[in-house]
Amino acid sequence: MAGSRSLDNIAREILRGNDKGGYTIPTSGLYPYQWNWDSAFAALGFARFDIDRAWTEIETLFSGQWDNGMVPHILFHRADPGYFPGPEVWGGTGPVPSSGISQPPIAATMVKRVFDKNPEIGMQRIGPLFDKIAAWHRWFMDWRLDNGAVCITHPWEAGRDNAPDWDGAMARINPQKVGEYTRRDTTHVDSAMRPTKYDYDRYVWLVQLGKRLKWNEAELLKHNPFRVADPTMTFTLLRAQRDLATLGRAIGRDVNDIEQSIDILRDGAKTLWNEQLGSYDSRDVRSGEWSGSISNASFLCWYAGLKSTEMKTVLNDVLKTVRYGIPSYDPRGEKFDAKRYWRGPVWGIMNMLIGTGMQEMGMPEGAALRQSTCDLITEHGFAEYFDPHDGSPAGGDSFTWTAAVWLSWASPNADN
Ligand code: SER
Repeated sequence: MAGSRSLDNIAREILRGNDKGGYTIPTSGLYPYQWNWDSAFAALGFARFDIDRAWTEIETLFSGQWDNGMVPHILFHRADPGYFPGPEVWGGTGPVPSSGISQPPIAATMVKRVFDKNPEIGMQRIGPLFDKIAAWHRWFMDWRLDNGAVCITHPWEAGRDNAPDWDGAMARINPQKVGEYTRRDTTHVDSAMRPTKYDYDRYVWLVQLGKRLKWNEAELLKHNPFRVADPTMTFTLLRAQRDLATLGRAIGRDVNDIEQSIDILRDGAKTLWNEQLGSYDSRDVRSGEWSGSISNASFLCWYAGLKSTEMKTVLNDVLKTVRYGIPSYDPRGEKFDAKRYWRGPVWGIMNMLIGTGMQEMGMPEGAALRQSTCDLITEHGFAEYFDPHDGSPAGGDSFTWTAAVWLSWASPNADN
């Protein structure tokens, strides 16, 4: 087992190795482009040893922002045949070839942390980025709210691709006309760790629909059968707006609009409380049905700054069932699958978001989760995700965000 100093070095090497010059890929082979929330984590990792590179990561991400404010979930800076669906399938309409959907808005929160590390340099870099982040957040507020909760229009948008949360909405899609396509992910990773063909047919169908509608949000609102109010998006945006307001005040900007949106999102988060389940849950806006999912996103309430003793009880019940917390889906549920991506495995990034939220709220569970994440990475490496029972690594390896989680939080040498 490597010591924490040498693990710090390995984590740095992973970030440097995945650095393509101005942006970082999540891992070579499986994900050869710039992903939105992966980059926000990468910035935080770089901030431990190269603050300039941290800012550049975010600046490159925002170079792909669309005119309507949306920041895509993938920027295809350089063509790579090893990934599907590529830029021609998506038909993105922004300044950089891209996908047509977004991803959880954690950038403002990570930017604030990078800023706080070195405010002097932060003051030189934050100005133009502040406006871009504000425009991105405004896009969510204008186009994606349902009773104040933030909706996704594709499972990939939540980042939790094949979570059981979307099963109901996915079942309503008939992907008959999707045509032939070749997946690339399963050439890089064991198919038992990836979404099924049933899921992929629907993912691709949704991409084809969006492209046909030229990614026009008003048209998508009318015609897309997939619209789910999601705790990942709602909690991360609520947190991000708070952090953006703080940054805005620090540089003398008017943050009234952001403050109003915080109130709206706080009310929106209440609409994700599933009383029968006794947990935060996803809500299918088209059918009006609950997903009935206790996922790791349900526990992002603390990251959003919301108190919840009920969720604490749920958390303790879930944690009793696994060695390494927090599984992406409740192991007591029949859809739990310990190795399949977002249907059971534990993810370092989600642990970090939830754990820092708990630490900020003064909950001792936060430090315990940090320790469990430290053990997981120390014992099982820098994988994309892990089996929550035995910690066996799953998905891609030498993974950027796991290295970033190590450097910025899980490592005993990180400043917590
Ligand atoms: N996570 C998706 C993939 O596996 C896309 O964001 O390709």
